[in-house]
Amino acid sequence: MVEYSAIDVSVEDDVGTLTFDRPEKKNAMNPRLLEEMGDALGDLRDEVHVLVVTGAGDAFNAGMDFDEYFEAARAAGPLAVREANRLHKRALVRLYEFPAPTVAKVNGWALGGGYMAMSLCDLAIGSEDAKLGLSEINFGIAAGGGTMWSVAHTMNRRDALYYTMTGEPFTCAEAVEMGVINEAVPASELDGRVDGLVDRLRQKDRFALEYTRHYYDKVVEMDFPEAHDYELAKGEEMKYLQGYEFLDRGVSGFTQDRYRPGAGEDYPDDE
Ligand code: ACO
Repeated sequence: MVEYSAIDVSVEDDVGTLTFDRPEKKNAMNPRLLEEMGDALGDLRDEVHVLVVTGAGDAFNAGMDFDEYFEAARAAGPLAVREANRLHKRALVRLYEFPAPTVAKVNGWALGGGYMAMSLCDLAIGSEDAKLGLSEINFGIAAGGGTMWSVAHTMNRRDALYYTMTGEPFTCAEAVEMGVINEAVPASELDGRVDGLVDRLRQKDRFALEYTRHYYDKVVEMDFPEAHDYELAKGEEMKYLQGYEFLDRGVSGFTQDRYRPGAGEDYPDDE
């Protein structure tokens, strides 16, 4: 396993965990963290069935590092700023495009770019008192660099403009009301709830999970006839990758009366 200094990466069975690991700086993203995050996501993409993203200490991620991203890059000149932005885009795009389901375990502050990292994950479970926020306006800029896209894809217009214009933080419990977080639980239950969700996802076919997310993100902008064609064509690609296993196990398991998928049951594991 590669040694990192600003993140921690572990893989147990087929579950990966990427932990932002600068707790003394509330896990703020400096160029090193972004480079390591991009590298790790590239290395893990074919390795894991589910990826959990979380933070060390009492923060999930406090956004871009004020000293090492904004100040230091400016002092080093335009090319350094461009390089820092390249590392930022690479890391966040790799998170968004990660093939396996990504679950944000929101253990504490998720601010600015940290909010973006949380929202680019497919699912998010938070500790109910953990706070999120779009604080950019509080120090004089508009939420940008991908953050507004992530806000627009997790909040309705009223909430998006309210929180990006006021910079008020809000709790994970409030974020559930807005549909930003799937579920908020007491801090003591966070690990157990995320582990339970991860176990549930591990029962599902990895290609079916990948294509579910992929379909959603593509078809949401299409009209229905176009989406119908797209899903049919992409579905054949998925079935080819799976070796048509859904027919041998999923469909025939039901026709042989062995399980009830409509009642939330997974097809029986014959191994
Ligand atoms: N960049 C650099 N250092 C940071 C950041 C950050 N984004 N956030 C926290 N830190 C550092 C603090 O400077 C402090 O370091 P120090 O001990 O060396 O002085 C340490 O983390 C602990 O932070 P405190 O401020 O002492 O902790 P507190 O619990 O009082 O407050 C809070 C936490 C609310 C997160 C506060 O640190 C804060 O407002 N941080 C800025 C977060 C932010 O606005 N992020 C958005 C950035 S913009 C963007 O992402 C596009």
